[in-house]
Amino acid sequence: MKEKIIEIKIKECAFLELDSEDRELVETAKRMALGSYAPYSKFHVGAAIRMENGEIVGGSNQENVAYPSGTCAERTAAYYASARYPGMPMRKIAIAAWTKLHGEEEKAASECFQRKPISPCGACRQALLEYESAYGPIEVILYGLDGVFIFPSVASLLPFCFTEF
Ligand code: THU
Repeated sequence: MKEKIIEIKIKECAFLELDSEDRELVETAKRMALGSYAPYSKFHVGAAIRMENGEIVGGSNQENVAYPSGTCAERTAAYYASARYPGMPMRKIAIAAWTKLHGEEEKAASECFQRKPISPCGACRQALLEYESAYGPIEVILYGLDGVFIFPSVASLLPFCFTEF
């Protein structure tokens, strides 16, 4: 039996090391997170997708009293992007999240972004992979106060993924 190693090459940098377009994308994801509807988890996530035409499409998590009916920020953004610009490649997605920890109730939401980046859930990876398989690689930019991680594609976050039948 052979052993195989899967390697993913990712980049890590500070927010200010991003170029101005990527900073704008992250800022949009943060703005989206500030407007998220998350009264149950109080975990607010925003996503922003850079389309091939340069436009940015944003989304945030939308929760529901019937919990499974809610949707993550990444899928809100991806489905909105595909509905708004049918057939247009999505080039990049930035993701940011904030929540108030115990004792931070008085803090402004904008001061409560996660130190460590959050990574999209499995269902969102699969949803994003659909558009990546159809239209080409989507770079994934995960924002955290301590640093930013950049993945070259959605597939790099989802090895051995299901893309066809
Ligand atoms: N959530 C997202 O929107 N994106 C992620 O990548 C992880 C989780 C949302 C779903 C739910 O509204 C809340 O965060 C807590 O899981």
